[in-house]
Amino acid sequence: MRLVLVAILWIGCSSATRVRFDNHTLYRFTPKDDQAIDTLRQLEQSVGYDFWTSVNGVGMPVDILVPPQKKREIMEVVEALAVDQEILMSNIQEEIDREAGSLRAGDTFGWNSYHTIEEIYNWLRSLSTKYPKIVTLVEAGRSHENRPVLGVKVSFGKATGQRQAVWIDSNIHAREWISGAVNTYILNALLTSTDRSIRNLAERHDWYIFPVLNPDGFHYTYTTNRMWRKTRTPYGLCVGADPNRNWDYKWNQGGSSSIPCTETYAGPRAFSEACTASTSRYLGGIAKELLVYVSFHSYSQMLLLPYGHTAQHLDNYNVTYPIAVEAANSLTKRYGTRYTVGNVAETIYVATGSSMDWLKGVHHVPFAYTYELRDTGKYGFLLPADQIIPTAEETLDSVLTIVREADKISEKVL
Ligand SMILES: *[C@@H]1O[C@H](CO)[C@@H](O)[C@H](O)[C@H]1NC(C)=O
Ligand SMILES: *[C@@H]1O[C@H](CO)[C@@H](O)[C@H](O)[C@H]1NC(C)=O
Ligand SMILES: [Zn+2]
Repeated sequence: MRLVLVAILWIGCSSATRVRFDNHTLYRFTPKDDQAIDTLRQLEQSVGYDFWTSVNGVGMPVDILVPPQKKREIMEVVEALAVDQEILMSNIQEEIDREAGSLRAGDTFGWNSYHTIEEIYNWLRSLSTKYPKIVTLVEAGRSHENRPVLGVKVSFGKATGQRQAVWIDSNIHAREWISGAVNTYILNALLTSTDRSIRNLAERHDWYIFPVLNPDGFHYTYTTNRMWRKTRTPYGLCVGADPNRNWDYKWNQGGSSSIPCTETYAGPRAFSEACTASTSRYLGGIAKELLVYVSFHSYSQMLLLPYGHTAQHLDNYNVTYPIAVEAANSLTKRYGTRYTVGNVAETIYVATGSSMDWLKGVHHVPFAYTYELRDTGKYGFLLPADQIIPTAEETLDSVLTIVREADKISEKVL
């Protein structure tokens, strides 16, 4: 207990310096029976391990980042269980250093490297200047540390009808850098692509693009802790709630935690986090316009549908599921990247309080999807920057498939 407390205080007080991950090892454990699953779930609720993926089911891998002082303990636990184990990255500090070396400060905005929140926001501002009739800067809300949740509305003025808008957000989980990079790439394509089918879809819809839904956490991944996931709201000894377990639909009814120090802490109540509360008010105001809602996360290569609280196929699943399959196929076509498709609770595990479920359950947005982007664990959250463009290209193909198919159905039904 004492050691745990020391570890927490150290994490809490180290904000002035960068948190290092020397000899922190990413393990992959694959449970082979229910007892192994139960034990891994207990471990997930304890402090000191960082679960990069959740405990899903028998035969489904669980990636856990383990600090050096915990290796002996976890080995004792898993060696008593029916679990296959492998090491995905033996020392993630090396990967973090490699990535830091690829960040080019002051570079013009692009997709050969990852960008800070200032760079992303300045680029959004420059678009509203460059395309004053098309791009409107939108502040959807404010974070706990009073950063804007900044995005843009792109409208060529040709969208008609009630449900004609597409919303795409990313980086509600701070460390999932590829998600925001793909989102800004898509925004750029909507504005500049000369491909006829892209132009057609870009112009017949309004697009709401929000690259960084969790600005405090995202900023913190650049300044202090590359592996930060949550918000930066203080909760006693620990900091942050999981902003994608914080939305007010079936809130904290499974797959989230009531313990502030865990990575999936749902918060003290629904919409306790400034960024989710304020953004949800904005989203609620425009929800009737939305035909499609897309949220980008990483990693695992999955395309997920509502809901997270039940594996039942509710609402218009029989329409949205075939579209997801088609969208995953169009993604695979470009580079062979393979995705798993399905309902959240069925494909991963029960998880409640997500933005997607709120948009679907409360606002009845007809087509709501969550992408878990590349990869499947070789680099995890530390996806090398040379994969940004290919990831973005294949994901653009896939999102456009969703919008195209949603259009076909909405012409008939909505
Ligand atoms: C990491 O592990 C190596 C090999 O066991 C050891 O030599 C090194 O001192 C460790 N580094 C730190 C910072 O603990
Ligand atoms: C989906 O299910 C609804 C209700 O059960 C039904 O009315 C509709 O025809 C089905 N659509 C498709 C594409 O199967
Ligand atoms: Zn995520």
